Amino acid sequence: MTYTIFGESHGPAIGVVLEGVPSGVEMDLDFIRAELQRRAPGKSALTTARKEADEPEILSGVFDGKTTGTPLCAIIRNTDTRSKDYAKLKHLPRPSHADYAGAVRYGGFNDYRGGGHFSGRLTAPLVFAGALAKLILQEKGVIITSAISILEGTPDPSPEEIEEIILAARKAGDSVGGAISCTVTGISAGFGAPDFGCNAEGIFAQHLFAVPAVKGIAFGAGFGFSCMRGSEANDPFYMEEGQVKTRTNASGGINGGITNGMPIVFEVAIRPTPSIAMEQNTVDLAEKKDATLVIEGRHDPCIVQRALPVVEAAAALASCELLGL
Ligand SMILES: Cc1cc2nc3c(=O)[nH]c(=O)nc-3n(C[C@H](O)[C@H](O)[C@H](O)COP(=O)(O)O)c2cc1C
Repeated sequence: MTYTIFGESHGPAIGVVLEGVPSGVEMDLDFIRAELQRRAPGKSALTTARKEADEPEILSGVFDGKTTGTPLCAIIRNTDTRSKDYAKLKHLPRPSHADYAGAVRYGGFNDYRGGGHFSGRLTAPLVFAGALAKLILQEKGVIITSAISILEGTPDPSPEEIEEIILAARKAGDSVGGAISCTVTGISAGFGAPDFGCNAEGIFAQHLFAVPAVKGIAFGAGFGFSCMRGSEANDPFYMEEGQVKTRTNASGGINGGITNGMPIVFEVAIRPTPSIAMEQNTVDLAEKKDATLVIEGRHDPCIVQRALPVVEAAAALASCELLGL
């Protein structure tokens, strides 16, 4: 299964085309809608005020409620756009957003309104694709879960701490970053290979780095390995009901690029939202001189909580690729 995400934040619609979808998968639209709503904006004081229904419209590849196996196209219409907020961004790129890199890459023809194709909004069709992947994986007993593991340095924050941290950042005209831990259970040992292109860690990394704002990924103990001895880091084997298991899972379920049957566990770092309210230094690309920028428009002071279903979606698509589904 491969997918192509299309559209721009302030265009008529965004969407996804999935190819190689297995035929006969029951399209559980209630589940797909619920996944999209986990990501959707405008739900609380903690997220952007942009209000989008994020209702998917399936244009092809589904008949009588089941996938046909031919290309599946789904769109989500953009309804709450305020393009005037972005007029000045044509010449004043937002620091650490993709405005500058994207303008260079596409020769200045990129749609800069609302971040165009680089907007976090483009993660809605990714969640649609991931929800379909989850439906396929569920039939194989593969389950994907995630949680916020760090928020602005606070480990495993409680809902109260999350609210406090995000509201404080918003009040200061700033934003916060964090990390998400994700677990994939139900994939047995033996999937993947040590080589480039089919390495299990590499497959997950490719899918996860396609999520905007993901700047790091680590499996199992990850960078923690750099502070350990082998005796601490090794996962001792044991037998349980005829199955080979490990007592610990510092390896995150992968050895030599191949799954070892333990849960696949990884953590991704999510950068603080680049669009912050306070004044920042930038350049004026038209005048070719230094400039300052105050960003208008509606932005999340923190992306981490909205990125949970997006990270799970990328993990679901990676799992399908790893399993050859
Ligand atoms: C769910 C989600 C929502 C996002 N919303 C915003 C936003 O409101 N403002 C913003 O500046 N960036 C937002 N981003 C992040 C940018 O899209 C991203 O940082 C930018 O494209 C640069 O890409 P990079 O951080 O991967 O290098 C969002 C990302 C996600 C996953």
